[in-house]
Amino acid sequence: MAISMKLSVIILAAGQGTRMKSVLPKVMHKLAGTPMLEHVYNRSLELGAEDIHIVYGHGGEHLHDYCSDFDVEWVLQDQQLGTAHAVQQASPGIADDHIVLILYGDVPLIKSKTLKALIDNVSTDSISLLTVELEDPCGYGRIIRHNGEAVAIVEHKDATVEQKRITEVNTGILALHAGYLNECLKKIDNRNVQGEYYLTDVIQLGVKDGKKIITSQPENTYEVEGVNDRKQLSKLERIKQRELVEVIMAEGVSVADPARIDIRGELDVGSDSFIDINCIFAGNVTVGRNVTIGPGCVISDSTIADGCIIKPYSVIEKAIIDNNVEVGPFARLRPGAHLKQNSRVGNFVEVKNTQLGEGSKASHLTYLGDTEVGSMDNIGAGTITCNYDGANKHKTIIKDGAFIGSDTQLVAPVTVGKNATIGAGSTITRDTEDEKLTLSRTAQKTIKGWERPKKK
Ligand code: UD1
Ligand code: CA
Repeated sequence: MAISMKLSVIILAAGQGTRMKSVLPKVMHKLAGTPMLEHVYNRSLELGAEDIHIVYGHGGEHLHDYCSDFDVEWVLQDQQLGTAHAVQQASPGIADDHIVLILYGDVPLIKSKTLKALIDNVSTDSISLLTVELEDPCGYGRIIRHNGEAVAIVEHKDATVEQKRITEVNTGILALHAGYLNECLKKIDNRNVQGEYYLTDVIQLGVKDGKKIITSQPENTYEVEGVNDRKQLSKLERIKQRELVEVIMAEGVSVADPARIDIRGELDVGSDSFIDINCIFAGNVTVGRNVTIGPGCVISDSTIADGCIIKPYSVIEKAIIDNNVEVGPFARLRPGAHLKQNSRVGNFVEVKNTQLGEGSKASHLTYLGDTEVGSMDNIGAGTITCNYDGANKHKTIIKDGAFIGSDTQLVAPVTVGKNATIGAGSTITRDTEDEKLTLSRTAQKTIKGWERPKKK
């Protein structure tokens, strides 16, 4: 392709997707945490498309809402009369001197590399077509060759017994000049077994007009596999997951079992880190070097720095974890949790919108919400910050070096002084003094002569 040629992409997404049995439009179903349509949209962006047109059908109106941040032209195909008819809805909006690439919203694993090679074959004298060899070509359009040159595509339903034996099939993905596409679309009729306007007819028309049909193939068949039901979607999901995990392994990360990890977004992991089985990563997650992540952790939109140990079954969301921190097992870090270096959050501890200072520990059964914990503090088992009065949230401040005895309630707004000690079982409602022991509980007593009730 001449370097100066501009690219327009048409993404066909008007199919009803009835076999998904879902209220959600088919192309909105997610693969690796991202809607299938967004995968195809992202590939179009990578190719440097000048404009992107998405053809949607009835029931697909919600696509606009789901994909409101897409920079695309939305084109309604009122009735689905075939792939050529679908393309025709979008083509009037495309400049004649552009190259048009046809993609499909339900073919999510297509690679930019494959598409670049395809586009490179387009010229004023040629049409570029992506084909694939299939062991079982049933249902697909067959590539008809004459003296080795592709000359036509015959749909399965229109094919003769002889033609049905052909194993090279049409992927549906093709690229050609916009001006020439528009000429062809005017000529395509629906005189075939299905009564549809076939986009594939551009191949015969092109050959008639002296165009060369240049075919190319993807590296892997899965790149051109479409999704019609949830079984196919789950198959592609595992392929995509395998690809994603291989990227992090190549960067020096050990994964206990590449088949038992799910990456639903962007995961960046430093070398010599280890990820045990059944972890889920979602959104944007960055993990440093020498980090150990135990089994069953669910981590989303978070940063974990070097040398941390995340013990089994911890749930971490929108949190920042500095160097050499230990978390879990069974810890829950919620949005706004920031654990500074060498700190520790143990089992059944929930941390929300809270900063835990350097070397501070909350090891057992604790809730820290809207709290600023200084450095080298010890938060005893069962400590609760009472941050909510039923209407508003309030802040708790625990200064450096404090020791909070077990089973303490800190009723916010409240400040615990520097190096202060709080006696176990206290309910602290007022600020406490630096360096002093503060406690609030009745003195222990023994009741003389008391006896346990006896059964009558
Ligand atoms: C099409 C090709 C076939 C190819 C196969 C690959 C044609 C005529 N046939 O057949 O050669 O082997 O894809 O999968 O093109 N769509 C619309 N509007 C329509 C019709 C289809 O948007 O009016 C969209 C569908 O949502 C779908 C895609 O186009 O994503 C393909 O349509 P489909 O009817 O499934 O084509 P096939 O019969 O599989
Ligand atoms: Ca069909």
